[in-house]
Amino acid sequence: MVLWVFGYGSLIWKAGFRYEERLVGFINGYSRVFYQGSTDHRGTPDYPGRTVTLEPSHGEVCWGVAYKVSGEEDEQIALSYLEVREKQYDTKVYLDFFTDPNTTTPAVSGVMVYIGSPNKKLNPNYLGPASLEEIAEQIINAEGPSGPNRDYIFQLENALLEIGCEDKHVMDLANAVRKTLSEMKMDS
Ligand code: SIN
Repeated sequence: MVLWVFGYGSLIWKAGFRYEERLVGFINGYSRVFYQGSTDHRGTPDYPGRTVTLEPSHGEVCWGVAYKVSGEEDEQIALSYLEVREKQYDTKVYLDFFTDPNTTTPAVSGVMVYIGSPNKKLNPNYLGPASLEEIAEQIINAEGPSGPNRDYIFQLENALLEIGCEDKHVMDLANAVRKTLSEMKMDS
């Protein structure tokens, strides 16, 4: 048995489980968006942070990494770990994963992907869209058991650049966070 897991957020820079192979590539039809509220990792119930989720988006691709986990024991360990870590993501989907933009043949079929859906009943932490400035301010002020929310976005920006992906939403937001932080520094 083999399990493939696609990471498009913190899973890119921190797997947290044993894997046999890591491939850089993309899934079709989704955009990465900072619309998921986090009260367990990058914020608290009183002050939720923001992490990424995926939004269906026709014609778009989302770059990330796919991890191959082999063997029943490693698979069980990885799944149990992920079910806790990703517990605020209410939906799991199994998608085609591509490594080559010039082919329509997937490198792997059925990669598991965690998504925080916009359904507030299933996903009470969902925050949804807001202006860049609002999201940046929320990120600056949030911190949770996994660390400051601002570290999450800067680590994501770096991890994406390391795999050769310039994600406009992430970079615009990271720039907005940096700008607000430097303004705050000048004011103090
Ligand atoms: C992911 O990395 O694939 C899910 C979102 C996150 O944990 O940041």
